[in-house]
Amino acid sequence: MSTASDTSTPARPPRRKILVTSALPYANGAIHLGHMVEHIQTDIWVRFQKMRGHQCLYVCADDAHGTPIMLRAEREGITPEELIARVKEEHEADFADFGIGFDNYHTTHSEENRELAENIYLRLKESGHIAVRTIKQAYDPVKEMFLPDRFLKGECPRCGARDQYGDNCEACGATYSTAELKNPVSVVSGATPIEKESEHHFFKLPNFENMLRDWIRSGHLQPEVANKLAEWFESGLQEWDISRDAPYFGFKIPGTEDKYFYVWLDAPMGYFASFKNLCDKHDDLDFDAFLGKNSLDKDSDTELYHFIGKDIIYFHALFWPAILHGAGLRTPTAIFAHGFLTVGGQKMSKSRGTFINARAYLDHLNPEYLRYYFAAKLSSRIDDIDLSFDDFSARVNSDLVGKVVNIASRCAGYISKKCNGQLSATCSEPALYQRFVDTGEQIAALYEQREFSHAMREIMALADIANQYIDEQKPWLLAKSEDTTQQAQDVYSTGINLFRVLMTWLKPVLPEMACEAQDFLNIDTMDWHDCGQPLSDHRIDRFKPLMTRVEQEKIDAMLAQTRNELAAHTSAERSTEATEPGPLQADPIADTIAFDDFARIDLRIVRIKKAEHVDGAKKLLRLTLDLGGETRNVFAGIKSAYAPEDLEGKLTVMVANLAPRKMRFGVSEGMVLAAGPDGEELWILHPDDGAQPGMRVK
Ligand code: 2FM
Ligand code: ZN
Repeated sequence: MSTASDTSTPARPPRRKILVTSALPYANGAIHLGHMVEHIQTDIWVRFQKMRGHQCLYVCADDAHGTPIMLRAEREGITPEELIARVKEEHEADFADFGIGFDNYHTTHSEENRELAENIYLRLKESGHIAVRTIKQAYDPVKEMFLPDRFLKGECPRCGARDQYGDNCEACGATYSTAELKNPVSVVSGATPIEKESEHHFFKLPNFENMLRDWIRSGHLQPEVANKLAEWFESGLQEWDISRDAPYFGFKIPGTEDKYFYVWLDAPMGYFASFKNLCDKHDDLDFDAFLGKNSLDKDSDTELYHFIGKDIIYFHALFWPAILHGAGLRTPTAIFAHGFLTVGGQKMSKSRGTFINARAYLDHLNPEYLRYYFAAKLSSRIDDIDLSFDDFSARVNSDLVGKVVNIASRCAGYISKKCNGQLSATCSEPALYQRFVDTGEQIAALYEQREFSHAMREIMALADIANQYIDEQKPWLLAKSEDTTQQAQDVYSTGINLFRVLMTWLKPVLPEMACEAQDFLNIDTMDWHDCGQPLSDHRIDRFKPLMTRVEQEKIDAMLAQTRNELAAHTSAERSTEATEPGPLQADPIADTIAFDDFARIDLRIVRIKKAEHVDGAKKLLRLTLDLGGETRNVFAGIKSAYAPEDLEGKLTVMVANLAPRKMRFGVSEGMVLAAGPDGEELWILHPDDGAQPGMRVK
């Protein structure tokens, strides 16, 4: 015989086999809140799949290869192996403390990965997908190494701005080849680079044009991503340089003596290497069987998903499927890209102190606040996610503390004190309870589609209904009369049962709070299908506050810690933080200058008469400077640090005898002195008010 609630519980879907990854963080930097958007998004999705009863495995690793890691280890006087081992430990601790439940966390510098990289490369070579040819590249004759674009600085060939990277000018926005850069210097040694020939190995991406055109239109990508990729096809697919010359920290290419796989070749293989490492530790997990009957078989029934940021779509949606296909292996079921994290509406910035490390956050704030906040903002699209601390506090305090926890805290006291912890023997509101349970399938569909913000809205709408129900029933009044104490117990019991359903739907987002709620509710499991029946005649435990309000002082303390950490961060440290292919933030160590050279620099106190935005310039403000009679027009790359109106009327210091420079936006007649922790976003100097425009600075 089946009961009403049995028939209303939907049939469970068949058990799926799912392998999930987040992008592998580089092993030369700390985990920051930008990483956490992705890892929290992935972790929520994985926890949801596990709660639904699927076999879902979540693997990740550190991305341990490349020039920046090699140089950083050298600067620290340790081996790259020592560096990556230390960083891996830090990364793992940060992720664990944010509740990221990896099934395995490995490293790309592992034997599993070496084997995979070599095998896949050899398969590609045998199938004619590798070309070898000689190219010319910038070479540092002092350091005896080839220099990637980001390791060169010089003068912009278009506007003459100094200190520009090897491939683009931040002053005028020009892009160019390293050969065009004027007076180039190596960021590593300060030496003038020479051009040198070397043999490189290329992956013939154009061989896969037809395959990729089909693949990107076959449901593996979000529509906006597929459209973007289609644009890239128009400019034609290029062969991809997958080799780097020694010295390099990575895997040697089979059959060569001094060539290494480029970090981006073996990085995605690290996903499988981590999974292999997991399988080797568990007798019941078989790498080949899980991924298909023949290793990474094309016909595998296992789903494979990569969560990534939108900046690395090219690698995951073109190179990676082409490489897998070329090697006769399965391709991913889908790539899920997300947007960047902005803080206060702007790119995370070291100079504004909004480049917040995971550890700085964890030192002050509950990780589940951020998990919920990100969930409340995430969708399946690639829009950026903004972290505004006012909004953060308001949402957590209002939704989690004010709505969800409130249900339990207002019901638990009476049940504990007056009913000895015992819930009513029958549910007095079966329809209301069933309504909550039924919404579960809609919420599940939203989780499945990664529409987390929509799911959170639905859950909070239910929390409002539960609170309204208690408000309307006024159980505190019912409790006052002997005749109605049973009704009071019934209402409070219903409240507790509704809370249980809500916590079940929130568990993928708030695993720690759900675990404490489980203890309070005195239940063994909290899986998706567990709350088909309400808890009746069941004893609950004493209620302990499950979450406290966000305190502004804690946010302030975290931001202060972040500013201190950034200020303590030396420029030498920054020089080895470049990632590939991200920007390098290093400055070559300047040679000393003679006193006479210094004396030739005419430094003057100036008053900023006017500061204005410059149309089309990302970083520049146009300053009109008063030198005590004379007026100068200067462009300064300080836009990210100041609103123009904040600068007007302030004093600063300028180099007054700099030759005028023609820039895209006009002529700059000098330079203001500025400083900043990452050499990119800058704070100008403000002399004391006793200084007067025109005074010479000595
Ligand atoms: O962009 C990055 O941070 C890379 N380390 C991501 C690598 S993801 C994968 F391909 F390994
Ligand atoms: Zn320029």
